[in-house]
Formats: sequence, structure tokens, C-alpha cells
Amino acid sequence: MLTNLWYVAEWSRAVKDKPVQARLLGQNFVLFRDKSGKVNCLSDICIHRGGSLAGGWTTKRDCVACPYHGWEFDAEGKVQFIPSRGEGAEVPERARIDAYPTQERYGMIWVFMGDLPESERYPIPPFPEFDDRDKWRPIETEFTWKASVDRVVENGIDIAHTSFVHPGFGYQEMAAKNRIAKMERSDIAGSSSCVLYPPPMQGNAGLMRFARKDKAETHVHPGFYLSGHCVRLHIQVNSWMEMIIFDANTPVDEFTTRSFVVQVRNFFKWGMFDKGSVKRTLKVFAEDAHIVEAIAPHHLPESLEHEVSVEQDKFMAAWRKVRKIHIEEKGWKIDTRAMEPYRGEKAFTIPSPARRLNPELRWALDTVPLVPPLRPPLQGVSRSDDKRA
Ligand code: FES
Ligand SMILES: [Fe+2]
Repeated sequence: MLTNLWYVAEWSRAVKDKPVQARLLGQNFVLFRDKSGKVNCLSDICIHRGGSLAGGWTTKRDCVACPYHGWEFDAEGKVQFIPSRGEGAEVPERARIDAYPTQERYGMIWVFMGDLPESERYPIPPFPEFDDRDKWRPIETEFTWKASVDRVVENGIDIAHTSFVHPGFGYQEMAAKNRIAKMERSDIAGSSSCVLYPPPMQGNAGLMRFARKDKAETHVHPGFYLSGHCVRLHIQVNSWMEMIIFDANTPVDEFTTRSFVVQVRNFFKWGMFDKGSVKRTLKVFAEDAHIVEAIAPHHLPESLEHEVSVEQDKFMAAWRKVRKIHIEEKGWKIDTRAMEPYRGEKAFTIPSPARRLNPELRWALDTVPLVPPLRPPLQGVSRSDDKRA
């Protein structure tokens, strides 16, 4: 699991006037709306005696109150009021928890899980079709996997499995014809264009059957973004029907992934077709989960050594490369193993931007340990001379 990225914590519509708990990267957070309507995200561990703020309430001071002794925390995570000390009493400077940047986009609440200043954060992935309601009709759905987020993303961009896992998408005998026609990768994202030969589509009262001839050449464009661990699948059903499935894949913890899914389509834009769209999308996720939840090992291997790869796996390799850069060069991977000995004895949290700006403050909670980056070999010095070797 990687820090210093935007992730989706919840649907916008799910956070109204009460605090809501969100779990990301194995830690708990609380989301609450202030009077201006802005969503705030704080660490969900009260630094008084560890109460969960998500069980509390919002207050007239525009704070979230801890349900244990009523301490009130503002949008920056600072305590504004300690009821046992009374109105106007001084609040200790250390009475502060981490607060995380938030943004609402595409009907989702995005939270920045790290301490980078704004100028260094990767942007939230673009999804311009979401706001173009003249052309596109959106539906929302979600899916929770008992699988690691790295495997979920890899599955989302893998075309070769469609012939085997999704009967609505492929034929096993056509597996050799499916191909990746084009692909590109940067350090933070990848895009590709693929050609598939799927069967006619089903649903929408039999209307979809006429949309495409059996085994007609169909263009599908899978893409991924490190930010939000998003997958974007653009499907050109025929010359005039297109759909895009955009999912933000949130690492709830090492073993659980919550996919926030928005699908837009430029055809059958009436509400009566929404239910069928949701049903078909969830069916595809369930078909994937059946396979992905059974993969060994649970996590994506960090090297290709213990697997055998072929040409058709090259886009998955692009995703692995992007992860590797952020693990080995940036050092953003959370060291969950280092936290194991403290299970139940010590609470950790994700560092927030305010920590970086206030290092002198003795913050009550420790932050999650990170796997140190690999140092690049020194110029002119062989690896065997490197102390690390
Ligand atoms: S534990 Fe939160 S106010 Fe005491
Ligand atoms: Fe799939």
C-alpha cells in the first residue's frame, strides 16, 4: 500500500450532517461536513484516550466531537474545546490530530493520504465525460474485494483474461486474436488500445443484441493512474455506442479493496436503463473477484522472477513499473510488517501535510513506518562495494 496519493474515501452523498468513518491503508479516518458544506478528513483516533470520532457528532463550533469525553476537533484537527476544562480554558498545543486535504469530484470524496505539499501532489485523474451530461449518462456502483489493491488494478487493465473470465466479453477460441495495439506509460499513469472480438452484448430488453455483430472487431482502451489507483476502461461498442468504466480502487487494508465505480454511456440515456447497467457492471466485477480473490500470493510479486510472462502481459508490466518507481525510488510503501509486533498495543496514523510544517510539535501518535527507498548505485562504484549488497 502506497502513501502520498489521493484515494477515494467515500461517496459524496454518503456524508451528510453526521461524521462517517472511512478506512484506508489499514487506518481509520473520520469524514465530516462543516457549515460551509466542505468535507473534512481527520485521523479517527482521539489523542485524549483514543476514542473514535466517527461515533461522535458535529458541533456549533463547526467541529467534530469525540463521543468519549466530548473534546471538539476542528477541520485542521486542532482541539477547540475540552468540556471538562470549561469554556475559554486553554487547550494544550499537542491536542491535535492529523487532518488531510480533501476534494469532491465525480460524486466521490477524495482524500490525500500523505504529507506532501500541494505543489508535489499528483493530480486526481481526469474524467471529463462525468460532467458532460449532454453526451453521457452516468451510473454509480461499488464493489468490495477480498484482494489486494495491486492485484485488482492489474486485473482491471488485463485484456487477455476477458476471453476466459467474462463470457459476455470474449470467446476462448479467439484468445490469440485479441491484441494490444498501442500502449504508453509515464511515471504515474498508462494508457493502451486493444482489439477484441466479443460476442453480441446482452441486456436492455434484447436491444443490445443489435448493437454489434458477433465477433466484430471492437476497440477497448484500458488505462490506469497511480493517483486513486484508478482504472479507466473505454469501450467502443460500435461506431456510435461507447461506454467508459472509471473505477477508483481504494486500499481499505492489505487484504481488502473497495472499488468506487462510475460508468458513463452515450446511448440509451434514459433512467429506465440504469438498473440493467449496474447489474451488468456488478456481474463483471463478481466474475473477476472469483479469480482474483483466489490468486497466490495475495500481493503482487515485487519482481517477475517467480512468474512467466508473455507479450500480452506488457501493459500489466507497465502498472508494475509505475508501482516499483514509487516503492524503490520514492519510498512510499507502508511497511505493514514493521507494525505487526505492535498489533493492539500502539496506534499509527498516516502523516499529514501539517506534520511536515510543524515538526517541532510532539505529535501524540506515531506515523506508519515506510519501506526505505533503494539508493541508486554510486557512480563508478559496483554493487558489490555498496554496503547494502
Ligand atoms: S477519548 Fe476523546 S475526548 Fe476523551
Ligand atoms: Fe475482468
